[in-house]
Amino acid sequence: MVGCVATINLLYYLYDKFLTMKAMQQNENFKLPRRLQGVQPTLIRRIFERALPDSINFGLGEPDLPTPQFLREEAARVTLEEQNGYTNHAGLLPLREKIAASYPHLNLQPNQICVTVGSQEAMSAAFLAIVDEGDEVLISNPSFPAYENCVKISGGVPVFYRLPAERDFAFDIKEFKSKITPKTKAAVVISPSNPTGKIFTENDLRQIADALRDTGIYLISDEIYSDLYFTDEKPRSASEFYDRTIIVSGLSKSLSMTGWRVGWLASSQTDVVRAALTLHGFLAVCTSTISQKASLLGWTDEAERAKAEARKIYKKRGEFLIDLFEKELGLRGTSPEGAFYTMLDVRNLGDGLELAEKFLQNRVITVPGIAFGTEAKGFMRISFCNIEERMAEGVRRMKEALNK
Ligand SMILES: Cc1ncc(COP(=O)(O)O)c(C=O)c1O
Repeated sequence: MVGCVATINLLYYLYDKFLTMKAMQQNENFKLPRRLQGVQPTLIRRIFERALPDSINFGLGEPDLPTPQFLREEAARVTLEEQNGYTNHAGLLPLREKIAASYPHLNLQPNQICVTVGSQEAMSAAFLAIVDEGDEVLISNPSFPAYENCVKISGGVPVFYRLPAERDFAFDIKEFKSKITPKTKAAVVISPSNPTGKIFTENDLRQIADALRDTGIYLISDEIYSDLYFTDEKPRSASEFYDRTIIVSGLSKSLSMTGWRVGWLASSQTDVVRAALTLHGFLAVCTSTISQKASLLGWTDEAERAKAEARKIYKKRGEFLIDLFEKELGLRGTSPEGAFYTMLDVRNLGDGLELAEKFLQNRVITVPGIAFGTEAKGFMRISFCNIEERMAEGVRRMKEALNK
């Protein structure tokens, strides 16, 4: 079986090389600008795109719950009844007011918010707005792969701080501090985390704030999963403890609105927001007006009920799946505190990439931990955006693949 997997890998590799050479011949005169060299689609996408029909998806981090009906209806109404031209670059004023009010501790004004094309654009704009050639940016290992690529595109240098696997990927202040240098321009935190599902505790965030105070370093806080938590209370925002925090967030995950592309950048650092807004104007002009108008309902009681329901469902699914991994495969998954991910420990089963390939051939999409950083080698990120029945079938197929 291992030989067979190796042959498949080799064939994919050769095919990839062939396509690259062909493309190079066609575009002999094209030279990739320096800022894009080394920037590639993520391994998550590359695996997903090779999935066989009817695969069970433990790979992508995309909510499967339907977008709440009241949001769909509002988008339909707005489309039919209203003229939907551009909004101003920063986004609809009432929407920015609602976003600002989500962070009462910051007392933000609408000019300190920029509505973006999903939180992904907010993240890219944040890095481009603050990072200069050669600046260092601290990123956790493991972490969401986009940060590393965004830092590179911005001309910066990613520097990784470990979230130790032996402590279930918990934050380690000593490790974080050891990576700060005079060149550090920014640090990134994500809580709840993709890929680990862990939440930074209040103590973690206070320690980070203490370490950064008076350094001038910016903290980019990715809060896209902040409404998907399984703890008793909502996770704290890094911005409660540190002034120079730039919040990146949106509605994609909590209200199953990934395709609507509504995100934002929010910060008391008005100059940073202004710089990001300039970029946003040239990159996107504005976010879809229809999506923005419908998103005004994202702060209603109905929306809060939908978010609470999503939390309940993902929590239950996480418990169900971790239990099944233990019972059926004898494998341990980390216990998620939020988002919809667990890190499955496959260190006893051999190479993570080969294992993911084996599962892929048996119609199960998984992502080897190495896609998120060296610290996650020997783990797989498993997302539980699936109904229980499909997840049980996925585990059955994984077992079958292991026994082949
Ligand atoms: C950690 C994290 N940040 C940001 C994003 C981007 O989400 P969106 O652009 O849909 O808001 C994702 C999507 O998977 C993510 O996992």
